[in-house]
Amino acid sequence: MKPTVGFIGLGLMGTPMCRNLLKAGFPVVVWNRTREKTEELARENAQFDVKVGTNPRETAAKADVLITIVSDPPALEEVLWGRDGAMEGLRRGSTYIDSSTVSPALARKIGAACTERGVGFLDAPVTGGTWGAEKGELVFMVGGEKEVLERAKPALQTMAKHIFLLGPTGAGQTVKLAMNLILALQVDALAEALALVTTAGVPGERLIEVLQSSMARAGVLDVKAPLMLKNEFPPSFPLRLMHKDIALALDLAKQHAITLPAAAAAYSTYDAVKKSSTDDPDFAAVARFWKKS
Ligand SMILES: NC(=O)c1ccc[n+]([C@@H]2O[C@H](COP(=O)([O-])OP(=O)(O)OC[C@H]3O[C@@H](n4cnc5c(N)ncnc54)[C@H](OP(=O)(O)O)[C@@H]3O)[C@@H](O)[C@H]2O)c1
Repeated sequence: MKPTVGFIGLGLMGTPMCRNLLKAGFPVVVWNRTREKTEELARENAQFDVKVGTNPRETAAKADVLITIVSDPPALEEVLWGRDGAMEGLRRGSTYIDSSTVSPALARKIGAACTERGVGFLDAPVTGGTWGAEKGELVFMVGGEKEVLERAKPALQTMAKHIFLLGPTGAGQTVKLAMNLILALQVDALAEALALVTTAGVPGERLIEVLQSSMARAGVLDVKAPLMLKNEFPPSFPLRLMHKDIALALDLAKQHAITLPAAAAAYSTYDAVKKSSTDDPDFAAVARFWKKS
């Protein structure tokens, strides 16, 4: 018998992650703030053992392993400590994995609350995007104890390509914020370079060709450059979430009394595009900064 997984958060990432758990034969109880998404997932996966939870507390109470993946720190606090929050429902001896990207400080607050309840906790944010979530090829950056991770591995492995244990609670979030900072800066730099060459009369495609054969070659060129060249930004990793992650990284830097000048500059650019966008674009839409000026 596989352990029952409670799964909270059926967004762009959570939905495919949850499907992979079901396909691997885990019984799953799902809960999402917008209930239609939960019902849709249950309907589409009726051949598997999927149940719809009434609220976060009841979902956690039914779980041997609880997984959450929601937008940001306020969303996670709401799910855990809001009305009928999941924290109240978590059973002694169970395991709780949070895969949202939040602050290391919030991860440590959750870790302390879990310890009090006799629950094993891992902060386990992910990278790999919606594509990685669909393929079950995410990279998990984990903070917590090795024994807790060993217990969680069978469930995590249905969604993972690599699982890195990086240190105590909060270490997963710390590395995730640093990693996303590099992605934010790379895509911002690419948008700047494209603005420069196209304004100077050289087609953007020619810049990308050259970059692909240079030391500046990077994964973002394959994934984000085509969107920028077409000026189309369907959300895969939404700009609003990258904006949140740069802010979290800047907060963390402040707590440790260091300055991140490049991150601060990139934040202003993403912030301007977020404020002027009326849709919910991918973070590659940072390129719009130069379109409107
Ligand atoms: N998208 C990516 O490529 C990617 C990659 C790596 C990591 N991440 C991280 O993974 C997390 C989820 O990302 P996503 O792309 O799946 O986001 P998303 O599509 O915006 O989904 C967000 C989820 O959070 C829920 N939520 C938001 N506010 C809530 C609240 N106050 N109470 C309860 N639930 C709430 C939403 O519920 P509703 O359905 O009701 O709105 C939805 O299920 C984020 O922390 C993000 O930074 C994303």
